[in-house]
Amino acid sequence: MKRPLIAGNWKMNLDRKAALALAVGVADGAKEQGDVDWLVCPPSVYLDAVGRELANSPVSLGAQNAYHEANGAFTGELSMAMLTDVGCRYVILGHSERRHVLGETNEDIQRKVAAALDAGLTPIVCVGELLEERDAGRTIEVVSAQFDGSLKDLSAEEVHACVLAYEPVWAIGTGRVASPEQAQEVHSDLRKLVADRYNSGVAAAVRILYGGSVKPGNAGDLLGQTDIDGALVGGASLTAEDFLGIGRAVAS
Ligand code: PGA
Repeated sequence: MKRPLIAGNWKMNLDRKAALALAVGVADGAKEQGDVDWLVCPPSVYLDAVGRELANSPVSLGAQNAYHEANGAFTGELSMAMLTDVGCRYVILGHSERRHVLGETNEDIQRKVAAALDAGLTPIVCVGELLEERDAGRTIEVVSAQFDGSLKDLSAEEVHACVLAYEPVWAIGTGRVASPEQAQEVHSDLRKLVADRYNSGVAAAVRILYGGSVKPGNAGDLLGQTDIDGALVGGASLTAEDFLGIGRAVAS
């Protein structure tokens, strides 16, 4: 089994004080749990301050989004270099909320993934189907199209440098989690897709996270599946106890 990555996506939550307290709590607890890789992705306005709290801890810093251009007249946007400048190692790209609420397309995401890799960041590239797409039996078709569109023109080495995340939209923030078997089926299909489009070495090595209502109580079963290499956690990443509990469940 690959070393699991437990990633917290704090989304648009917390204030400065609460973000710093959470960072301290996660950093302290993670020191006791060295068998997983830890990552937190705070709101961008708190990245710098949270990064300082995480210095000399085993917890990495990531951003929830960024823009593909290097600099210039793009009001409100952040470049990949700005993220590395404040200590980010990862950036979440193509999250379903960016796709479905903010209207990002595969083309937007593909440009961002290329820019993140150029900047030396690890993109966490998210894919996932809507409930009506799953009900219509279109899950793998949708996920494949997002995969192909978001990773278009990348080399095998570049795909290897990405983390993939399968997040069924109907399971995000709903408390309705995919069963371990449902998640494993899509993860296995995604790995086959990587083998088909690139090669079997990259397919075996690339980390594929599951996201969607992951909690301490279901993390062990989900991450016990062959092709699930970690979790992208929203709601349960907002308290150190739950977030660390996910790591504990996986390691035990
Ligand atoms: P959730 O969010 O854990 O609150 O379902 C997951 C995600 O959006 O990454």
